[in-house]
Amino acid sequence: MSSLKDKVAIITGAGRGIGKESALFLAKEGAKVLVNDLGANPDGSGEDKIADEVVEEITSLGGEALANYESVDSYEGGKNIFESALNEFGAVDILVNNAGILRDKTLFNMDESDWDAIMAVHLKGHFNCTQPFVRYIRETNRLNCKIINMSSVSGLIGNFGQTNYGAAKAGIAGFSRSLSMEMAKYKCSVNTISPGAATRLTIDLMKAAGREVDENDWKQGPQQIAPVIAWLSSEEANEITNQIFHISQGNVGIMQQPAVIKSFKSEDVWDLDKLNMVMPDLIAAKKMHDEQVEKKGEPS
Ligand SMILES: NC(=O)c1ccc[n+]([C@@H]2O[C@H](COP(=O)([O-])OP(=O)(O)OC[C@H]3O[C@@H](n4cnc5c(N)ncnc54)[C@H](O)[C@@H]3O)[C@@H](O)[C@H]2O)c1
Repeated sequence: MSSLKDKVAIITGAGRGIGKESALFLAKEGAKVLVNDLGANPDGSGEDKIADEVVEEITSLGGEALANYESVDSYEGGKNIFESALNEFGAVDILVNNAGILRDKTLFNMDESDWDAIMAVHLKGHFNCTQPFVRYIRETNRLNCKIINMSSVSGLIGNFGQTNYGAAKAGIAGFSRSLSMEMAKYKCSVNTISPGAATRLTIDLMKAAGREVDENDWKQGPQQIAPVIAWLSSEEANEITNQIFHISQGNVGIMQQPAVIKSFKSEDVWDLDKLNMVMPDLIAAKKMHDEQVEKKGEPS
């Protein structure tokens, strides 16, 4: 039996890249898929009905899918994406917030529109598409739904030239942590992906970093992310929530969450001399922690 038989999934930005591979994988596992994609250029401009091609591919393989061309960057768009899935398939179980764009520039050179566009598609896009779904879960008391959000190393670690994108992707991790608490009552899991895959958004960056890129090699391409999204959508993952999974170069890993590593207590208000004393210990503890985590995180 297929692991996602009769489940209904909404995947945003599923016309290409990670979203497309995930739509094909979930459909192969038996899910009915709403394939949303605006058909935008990498910077978010333009529109195209590329979602149709993914729907054709799914239906030609015997699956069920519906195309949707709304933009996730508007509140109405998010509502319409959810309602078209509900109207077509009668229920919704899985939401993959995947649509994304880039406007890479250092903060020195960034226009206000570069900041706003990234926030609108990524961070507000998550809000726009998720709110109709969580309201539906509450109203219908639908249990064991899944929400999978798309963060990035840029937001979780940092990346030069991506203050806008990094801020939005860090915001998505924060959104996911708080939402997982709100959705626990409905046994709805909320997990976050930090992907590393050769797609049109990253191929040039990878080449600039001196890497040889072959997007058809599964260890490099978006096809390595799709099975993890499918697994997190399955019943096997019912108890897995509030986690960040990093998938890159054929490896799948779990990431740490922010936590206090070491602390000092003061009986009186901190003064500069006391801070001079404790700060070197805090920095040393952090360095040791980073070294341990780096070793532990190596693929086994
Ligand atoms: N590829 C990576 O290594 C990587 C790394 C970190 C994060 N991500 C994130 O993964 C997600 C998928 O990226 P990808 O690499 O597959 O890129 P991609 O460009 O191949 O796919 C993104 C899709 O989103 C669609 N889209 C853009 N704006 C939209 C909007 N407003 N409404 C609906 N659809 C829209 C595009 O048309 C495109 O088809 C993005 O959120 C991206 O930020 C990717």
